[in-house]
Amino acid sequence: MRPQACKKAQQDRLEIVNYLELDHREEMMRLVEQGLRAENKWLHCKYLYDQRGSELFDQICRAPEYYPTRTEKALLERHAREIMDFFALNGGDLVEMGSGSNHKIRRLLDQFSPRAGASLRYVPFDISQSALEEAARELLDIYPGLEVMGIVGDYTRHLDALPPGRKLVVFLGSTLGNFGEAQGLKLLKGVAEALNPRDRFVLGLDMVKPVEVLEAAYNDAQGVTASFIKNILAHLNRELGADFPLEHFEHHAFFNPARECMEMHLRARRDLRCRVADLELELSLDRGETIHVEIARKFTPQGAREMFRQAGLRPTRWFSDQRGWFSLVELAKAG
Ligand SMILES: C[S@@+](CC[C@H](N)C(=O)[O-])C[C@H]1O[C@@H](n2cnc3c(N)ncnc32)[C@H](O)[C@@H]1O
Repeated sequence: MRPQACKKAQQDRLEIVNYLELDHREEMMRLVEQGLRAENKWLHCKYLYDQRGSELFDQICRAPEYYPTRTEKALLERHAREIMDFFALNGGDLVEMGSGSNHKIRRLLDQFSPRAGASLRYVPFDISQSALEEAARELLDIYPGLEVMGIVGDYTRHLDALPPGRKLVVFLGSTLGNFGEAQGLKLLKGVAEALNPRDRFVLGLDMVKPVEVLEAAYNDAQGVTASFIKNILAHLNRELGADFPLEHFEHHAFFNPARECMEMHLRARRDLRCRVADLELELSLDRGETIHVEIARKFTPQGAREMFRQAGLRPTRWFSDQRGWFSLVELAKAG
């Protein structure tokens, strides 16, 4: 994007709509209670992302073992111009689901070179308000002509917040892989419904690869992933008055070949009794018992094609690196 003369002050180019204010806490209480009362305890991975969680995720992206970010960024760099051709003649919204920090979207924004009349609005959509606001303000500084409409929301519940007009939606980081098959399909169907026939959806997918590479990526030597996963407990301690002792949990991440996914668990180092005050919930964990926090599914080209078909999406372009480790798939509404 070519910097233009700053016509509007930053505050006039930034609008933030917050969908979480409505019922975020009730939803959190409901899901946490459901997960912790289950026989095999679990927590929803969206609660990994408070301010600290977003910072830790950014650190993970810089870890040498974490190949997905590097690989996807290289793909974005190589194909940004083709992707951003969407805005060459007509303006519209560049929507980023799960936007986090701005390090990937800048690859795309740098390639925005409109002909007369085409304008672009960036619409980050994230559950982490602090990360969204920080990233948006940085972008407004870098691109003086850019307008930003941030959506602070939960894309599992607020997809109707997606702008109705002409749009290119991107969903990067293989974040779709954090959903199980049924939930992932539901999300894709929701996106497909929100697309107009000429809109495009660019999805980053991490592909199946050697187990050693996968397990190293989610067990980085510096322990950043471990801190990120444990941070979910700190988030619950703060938000729901829980008393999880973080030091008595350890990160346990392994590849599950049957589900073709990495699984991330928190394992109790000893017998524990914990309390979540706001839920009036007491729970005990035996030494070695785990709380399942996150999955990261890995995709095959065939499996992904079938998933798109079921979701009502059709691939229009498919970009991949030489090793086939990561895919950026451009999709349109089928039919
Ligand atoms: C795996 S990170 C990916 C971040 C960035 N897109 C990237 O590729 O590096 C997932 C992002 O999605 C956001 N997120 C997670 N669950 C969400 C939800 N249910 N609704 C909206 N955003 C969510 C997180 O705050 C985080 O920024």
